[in-house]
Amino acid sequence: MSQVDRAIHAAVEARDEHTALHGLQVARLSEELGRALALDADDIDALREAAHIHDVGKIGIPDQVLLKPAPLTLREWEIMKNHSALGARIVAAQSSPHWEAMHASSKIVNAVLHHHEHFAGTGYPDGLAGDAIPLWSRIILIADCYDALTETRAYRASLTHEDALEVMSGERGRVSDPELFDVFVRSIECSRWKVTGRERNG
Ligand SMILES: [Fe+2]
Repeated sequence: MSQVDRAIHAAVEARDEHTALHGLQVARLSEELGRALALDADDIDALREAAHIHDVGKIGIPDQVLLKPAPLTLREWEIMKNHSALGARIVAAQSSPHWEAMHASSKIVNAVLHHHEHFAGTGYPDGLAGDAIPLWSRIILIADCYDALTETRAYRASLTHEDALEVMSGERGRVSDPELFDVFVRSIECSRWKVTGRERNG
């Protein structure tokens, strides 16, 4: 991880430890899915960075929304949905002037910007669909869903591995990229990050 990304992660941690831990787990799951897809080593490094800081924009979301110990109202959801564009702006601000590094960081910016786009075009911020959604965003979305469903929130218990996969299967092709989801289902079975008890690992 670069110094800047370490600084970004530390800022997220200071604001909300839960978001920081979630970023770490999404990075682990995204890296594994990237390996299962046979991405090259440089892409896997950058994918892991993007996944690690994908929710950095949450540092700009007000406490009463970010830290609310209950489901959000529609109005609060609208505020929360700003976090992907906010995060992309924060990541873009640290882009390197060197072309190669800039190319990699612009892919990270796009991955962060589009990590809530749904395969059917019903996500945000731009309503992109299918392959128009950056590959890394489609990977991060699957890792994000799995970790969000299997973690305990103040207002609901965590799902088991099997129940989380059942929920995600119901969203296959609508929320997630169906081909990537199928690869995830196979790779998570032998993953050290597979949730085996009430608590997620790590
Ligand atoms: Fe997010």
